Amino acid sequence: MNPLWAAIDAHFEGLHPKDEAMSAALEANARAGLPAIDVAPNQARFLHILARSVQARAILEIGTLGGYSTIALARALPALGRLVTLELKAEHAAVARANLERAGVLERVEIVVGPAVETLAGLAGPFDFVFIDADKANYPAYFAHAVRLARPGALIVLDNVVREGRVIDPDSTDPNVPGTRAVHEALAQEPRVTWTTLQTVGVKKHDGFTIALVD
Ligand SMILES: C[S@@+](CC[C@H](N)C(=O)[O-])C[C@H]1O[C@@H](n2cnc3c(N)ncnc32)[C@H](O)[C@@H]1O
Repeated sequence: MNPLWAAIDAHFEGLHPKDEAMSAALEANARAGLPAIDVAPNQARFLHILARSVQARAILEIGTLGGYSTIALARALPALGRLVTLELKAEHAAVARANLERAGVLERVEIVVGPAVETLAGLAGPFDFVFIDADKANYPAYFAHAVRLARPGALIVLDNVVREGRVIDPDSTDPNVPGTRAVHEALAQEPRVTWTTLQTVGVKKHDGFTIALVD
């Protein structure tokens, strides 16, 4: 990783007051042996801002891990808002539950453990904001469900779509690339969304978000 990217992230991060609950969540994740594949602090804030800007009252997250992004999104909700987050691994969900409780947002959040494709089949909307951040092979299925479950005006955000540029290589050996490429072909064919992809650099290296507005 280019050290300048991390230094710039640290520069702007240093202008914010320390967020005890978010820091404690990362520490708890590390203690529990979870992989450090949460969004970066600035990305969590970005998601929070997006969710608030659409005045989200119902948020769907696919890929909980330790609930780091979940906390940021749950904080964007009004008092009676709800967030449903889907996680394959019970051990990740247990860490997330403790992190969400410490952050004071657990009562707004439902963590559903199991393969997200199966959970989504039984889920009813509408949702105002969907964050897709789980196994890339299922991104096309997640996106199809997100469009089905989203209200007009909702935002769908997909994480890790650039993968240090590997996304543009159809012969990439990265097993995450085919799903990432396929979901963008689905986005391109979906008349109900207006979408764009933004590359990002920083402590999470070179990656990117795709943001789709449901028409
Ligand atoms: C990148 S992490 C999520 C990070 C989290 N959104 C954050 O920023 O704090 C991806 C998570 O998706 C989960 N996951 C992987 N495959 C899944 C599946 N088929 N169904 C549900 N969750 C899955 C993984 O166990 C992992 O916890």
